[in-house]
Amino acid sequence: MEFWDVTDFSKVSADIEPVRRAADIILSGGLVAFPTETVYGLGANALDGNAVSRIFEAKGRPQDNPLIAHVADMSWLERLCLDIPPVAYELCELYWPGPLTLVLRSSGVVAKEVTAGLDTVGVRSPNHPVALALLKACDVPIAAPSANTSGRPSPTAARHVYHDLNGKIDALLDGGRCSVGLESTVLDLVSDVPRILRPGGITLEQIRKVCKDAVYDKAIFGEVPKDAPVRSPGMKYRHYAPRAKVIILRGDSSDVAAYIREQSVNDPNIAVLCYDEELPLYGGLNAVSYGPRSRHDILSYNLFSALRALDETGAETIYARCPEGSDTAVAVENRLKRASAYHIIDVK
Ligand code: TXA
Ligand code: MG
Repeated sequence: MEFWDVTDFSKVSADIEPVRRAADIILSGGLVAFPTETVYGLGANALDGNAVSRIFEAKGRPQDNPLIAHVADMSWLERLCLDIPPVAYELCELYWPGPLTLVLRSSGVVAKEVTAGLDTVGVRSPNHPVALALLKACDVPIAAPSANTSGRPSPTAARHVYHDLNGKIDALLDGGRCSVGLESTVLDLVSDVPRILRPGGITLEQIRKVCKDAVYDKAIFGEVPKDAPVRSPGMKYRHYAPRAKVIILRGDSSDVAAYIREQSVNDPNIAVLCYDEELPLYGGLNAVSYGPRSRHDILSYNLFSALRALDETGAETIYARCPEGSDTAVAVENRLKRASAYHIIDVK
């Protein structure tokens, strides 16, 4: 696997050697992992079905879960999509490049492997100098899921990609840590009302500036039965999960800390994922904090790397604190609850 350090963004453009070589690999049917502002993506030429199939193999991804087509700018919308509603352009004006994926009717230009046989396609323009340089150098849309083994926490640093995919992909562009830390918001513009299928970097409130009737899909908040029809196939699977079992604990900080101490007497392999304010309660235990309770942007930034770090300590159970019920926290809440497979305990 080729590895290039492109963390000095002042020098990044479509013409630098690593980006040109990465583009050559994409155009000749290979796989390149690259940084975006959300998480690292595993890219292939979205017009080349064989190349896209290799993504599913490398990740061990279920075949029915469609990929997002990444584009350099809005001008690609008309090439890749049909029946584009005016709100799509307004959303792109406001939030592209950025962490917003639009699901629109596919024109059939991207390979069928990208859409997993659906008649819609997810499209986004990532807000990252390396990703944009690569898209410009290739001049094709790049199909890219998160660059992790399917089911694991998404990669927010190059070493996470290396850990999961070394030996399975052709190249990795290292752009340092991803600034958002959670995946893009997936917004379905094909259904009856604009519907958030996956919460992410752009909030419902931000979307409602353009689409007043936008809603969250119900599946975001609950466990999806295995064979229920879902709009976004990705919502079916256990996701974002470390090796360790994750259990979410609700309740006062001190009650939760007492509960964890009690558990730790019989079980030496537990770990704690808590808020900064709570860390002093866990002296002597394997605890990490992932940000101040009310800073949902910082919690988003650190969540996946903290889950991976706790896995590396050999923990078997991770007791986690999870923000709930706010528009800006809903993406963190969604990822952590799915990582726990909705295992939540109310501590009193
Ligand atoms: O931030 C992101 O979106 C990252 C970076 C790399 O751009 N990508 C990412 O891709 O998270 P992935 O494949 O891990 O997640 C894509 C999600 C899945 O839940 C998938 O089911 C959904 O988007 N999706 C893609 N195309 C869709 C479509 N046509 N209809 C409904 N859902 C779709
Ligand atoms: Mg993913």
